[in-house]
Amino acid sequence: MSPQSIRHATEVDIPRMATINTSVFLGDRDKVKSAEEWMTCWLKAYPLYHYFVVEINGLVVGYAGWQMHGGFQRAEPVIELDQLGVDKAYQGQHLGPELMRHSIDELTRWVQSKNERIESHVTFVVWAYTLNFNAMNAYAKLFADGVRGSRLQFGDRAESMLRWRRPIIRPIREQD
Ligand SMILES: CC(C)(COP(=O)(O)OP(=O)(O)OC[C@H]1O[C@@H](n2cnc3c(N)ncnc32)[C@H](O)[C@@H]1OP(=O)(O)O)[C@@H](O)C(=O)NCCC(=O)NCCS
Repeated sequence: MSPQSIRHATEVDIPRMATINTSVFLGDRDKVKSAEEWMTCWLKAYPLYHYFVVEINGLVVGYAGWQMHGGFQRAEPVIELDQLGVDKAYQGQHLGPELMRHSIDELTRWVQSKNERIESHVTFVVWAYTLNFNAMNAYAKLFADGVRGSRLQFGDRAESMLRWRRPIIRPIREQD
């Protein structure tokens, strides 16, 4: 078995995910129990929300949380990368991009199996602090449409939204 694997998260992963969350994000910093509670809520919201984890030799070293927006049957589904966190000791090894790529592929397959109305694209978006250069660097390579929006949500720190409208190839419908 490969020492690195990516899969959907389960309840047993929450303590490790919360530990990563509190060490790399400001929101719940140093409040592991609070992060566990928050992340358990999102885990239970599946399939509205999907958590993926990346493991190395059985240890969870990063996670990604994705939220479906606006219903399950939209002609152009919109899926937001809500959080991406990699343990500080494992940053800079491209695990974040691998986790994103893998989860985008799985989410694309999943949404296609559930939604009959998709016309031509699945849209993936992510908001990040404009000056978070590590995140922006990782996102810009994958969210290939680039910056498509800006906002101030937390304090006075500017955030940018990056987007990728991923084309979907549909089988040609047979003539009646
Ligand atoms: C942003 C984040 C998810 C990127 O994941 P990652 O696995 O470290 O991604 P990468 O290894 O591809 O790093 C992205 C780029 O930043 C650089 N980088 C990231 N972390 C680094 C570190 N600790 N030291 C040096 N360089 C680093 C890498 O060199 C890479 O650039 P490159 O592609 O030109 O080589 C991760 O750094 C992280 O968890 N940061 C804290 C939480 C956060 O900011 N999340 C995103 C906002 S929601």
